[in-house]
Amino acid sequence: MSIVRLDISKVRNLEQISFSPSPQVNLITGVNGSGKTSILEGIHLLSFGRSFRSHKHKTYIQHEEEECVVFAQLKAKHNDFISMGLRRSRDGSIDVRIQGKKAQSVVELAERLPVQLINPDAFRLLEGSPKIRRQFIDWGTFHFDNGFINAWRGWQKALKQRNSLLRRGKISTSLLMAFDQELIRLGDKVNQYRQNYTNQLTPIFLSVLAELSDSIKVRLVFSQGWDATKSLTDAMASSCERDIDIGYTQIGPQRADLRVKTDAGDALDTLSRGQQKLVVSALKIAQGKMLIEMGSPLVFLVDDLPAELDSQHRQKLCALLEALNNQIFITSVEPDIMDYTWSDTTDVRHFEMKEGELSLSERRFAGELNE
Ligand SMILES: Nc1ncnc2c1ncn2[C@@H]1O[C@H](COP(=O)(O)OP(=O)(O)OP(=O)(O)O)[C@@H](O)[C@H]1O
Ligand SMILES: [Mg+2]
Repeated sequence: MSIVRLDISKVRNLEQISFSPSPQVNLITGVNGSGKTSILEGIHLLSFGRSFRSHKHKTYIQHEEEECVVFAQLKAKHNDFISMGLRRSRDGSIDVRIQGKKAQSVVELAERLPVQLINPDAFRLLEGSPKIRRQFIDWGTFHFDNGFINAWRGWQKALKQRNSLLRRGKISTSLLMAFDQELIRLGDKVNQYRQNYTNQLTPIFLSVLAELSDSIKVRLVFSQGWDATKSLTDAMASSCERDIDIGYTQIGPQRADLRVKTDAGDALDTLSRGQQKLVVSALKIAQGKMLIEMGSPLVFLVDDLPAELDSQHRQKLCALLEALNNQIFITSVEPDIMDYTWSDTTDVRHFEMKEGELSLSERRFAGELNE
């Protein structure tokens, strides 16, 4: 799957841009504030129904405009073409269309257009709250295993109901434990899906990281959200009275986490900034690679490639991305920073952003000059 046509209208400074990306490598360059990140933001909107920069839709809809629109034509398996469109209005309403028909939920977008983002903010995967890492695991598990989404939705619903009962108070331990059976059944399922996914991801992550750097030695540690020596039933029974006292559910898959550790401790405290970026990039590439190997292509968005990386590591990252042979959008302020030699057989298109306009550049890259 790749985007063959992309139209973005009224997203930040992008008045109206339309272009035909390469199914392989797309380089987008332009000065600060020209709109490079906004293009990636538009693609991300179409996949997730939300931006990666802000949860407030009003910030990415162009000032003084009522709505923004992103439209893409995808070339899917068997060369079928799929059109996808998203319209987000200032009043908060969202209209998602696939092949002209209204979609039931934004999940349908993610299924058709899986997008993986590597950007300067990617550090948040290590330094942010566990919620960000759970989202990372859940995104991968969702694409990896068809059964996950239903278990996850059911479990979320049961958890919300339990927390609302606890907030209202006046609930006995026995009533709560009766209510918990369904929550535990679904919570166990969610946990199994996540564990299975993480077990599959780990060796792929380690081999991708080894290709990026031979000096970083880390391991992934998944924690399920309760004492690993206990069943969820026992752990919930033990915390039931305290849950009633404090008014919410303390343990369970909602507390799961995935930490990256070195021998000296948490990766966040022991690795340099550049090394952390390599670890996060390896996690994201591994996630993408796993999907690709399952026959589910995806689109990589790499915003501000040079940030934090030296020339050697930039080149290694580009080599890994190129080898995945999927569609990539890479942004950079300076074209010269792309000092990687793309293979002669890779379709590399270089687009330049200038004052909100996007044009295909005639500029040739080092690799292409060798032809
Ligand atoms: N809601 C909005 N309406 C109009 N313009 C906006 C809005 N939000 C941000 N902008 C402007 O859009 C422009 C594009 O920003 P963007 O972050 O995409 O640029 P960029 O090319 O990625 O820059 P950099 O190289 O600094 O990362 C900026 O000039 C910004 O001030
Ligand atoms: Mg930017």
